[in-house]
Amino acid sequence: MHSKSVYPVSDFGGELRVPGDKSVSQRIAMLAALAKGTSEIRGFLRGEDAMRTLGAMCSLGASVKFEGNLLRITGTGGKFKEPANPLNMGNSGTGTRLLAGLLAGQNMTVIMTGDASLSRRPMGRVKTPLEQMGAQIELTGEKATLPMTVRGTPLHGIRYELPMASAQVKSCVLLAGLFAEGKTTVIEPRPTRDHTEKLFQTLNIPIDINGLEISIQGFGRRGPQIAARSLIVPGDFSSAAFWIAAVAARPGAELIVRGVGLNPRRTALLDVLRRMGARIEVHFTEEQNDPIGTVLVRGARLRGTEIGGDEIPNLIDELPMLAVTGTLAEGRTMIRDAAELRVKESDRIAVTADHLRAFGADVEEYADGMAVRGPAKLHAPEKPLASHGDHRIAMSMAMMATFADGPVILHDVDCVATSYPEFWNHLEQLGGKMK
Ligand code: S3P
Repeated sequence: MHSKSVYPVSDFGGELRVPGDKSVSQRIAMLAALAKGTSEIRGFLRGEDAMRTLGAMCSLGASVKFEGNLLRITGTGGKFKEPANPLNMGNSGTGTRLLAGLLAGQNMTVIMTGDASLSRRPMGRVKTPLEQMGAQIELTGEKATLPMTVRGTPLHGIRYELPMASAQVKSCVLLAGLFAEGKTTVIEPRPTRDHTEKLFQTLNIPIDINGLEISIQGFGRRGPQIAARSLIVPGDFSSAAFWIAAVAARPGAELIVRGVGLNPRRTALLDVLRRMGARIEVHFTEEQNDPIGTVLVRGARLRGTEIGGDEIPNLIDELPMLAVTGTLAEGRTMIRDAAELRVKESDRIAVTADHLRAFGADVEEYADGMAVRGPAKLHAPEKPLASHGDHRIAMSMAMMATFADGPVILHDVDCVATSYPEFWNHLEQLGGKMK
């Protein structure tokens, strides 16, 4: 387990490109593996989560080749082969939950395992709808957790009201629906990221989106016939978010992020930062499946704000960093309706609140969020801060450390590589200091 010491800096900013979107990369890995022929993918994330999912697709019969920024995936044409061994999904919740859906209707048995963090995360949320479709899913972990055995069976379409706002569960049911007889409808309590729906559209898989109700007509056991094609993975907005928020809260700092995905279901952080007083410009440069563009941020003195309701799923992965930003803003920043944070790669409410307090910040924790009062004078914690195996905790705390009054030791930072292997290089590139 590696540690890093991150030092406070007075200047921070510059220009950069972030690596490919984790959600989009994993969905593309699955759909290109399902397609017939060779898809050419530009910008695929070479982070551990995406590589695990890609590896799983290879175990299921796809073949892949990287040439610089280009990834060629030769698909199975829908004829997956039964993997010889359990699929180790590492830290990837998206890979595991979406694959459970994709595999539920195949004629084979597949076992999925994961690392310690993934093995604590709830999988009952995909088992329940999949079983309603006729699937056989066994969770042998202690609390409806991994390992998961998927015994492929014939499926039928269902109408399913999601009990929580989750793009992963929605996508799982839609992927299973492709191999079901009849129509599958999912109803979301709040709009969540729609990369699966958009990719279906790009790949000419008919999908009917009616507000919060999303339906597809199943193709039965044979599944859909998808033709391979060229696809672009935009830069990951959730990776850019660390720099955007850290620069927004630093008067005088400036940042340009290019080639970043600007799907509106991902960018609610920009609305929140603007409400807090940040100066942000967005320029759209291209659109392929998702809008892509440049974000320009100029730092300012921020003020606290309230974050909740429909905004939450559209910035769910940015909330630890937003809490950090709250400690730098004047007044109270309130985060509510975010109980889902407790079942992410770590309990992000408890861990973030603990770590913020370690810096001397004023934090009140709720079941579904937290209140942070600022601006706080941030003191470097005496003890090292643990990531709890959670990449977004490690990166949020690295950002917080740049505002502290001394070096901060972060423990167990290898997890950063799940979504952002270049993070530490980029931190230095923008003027950060670390050891
Ligand atoms: C993801 C959806 C979100 C997000 C996760 C990736 C996806 O999770 O937190 O990092 O790729 O669909 P939920 O859908 O479980 O909320």
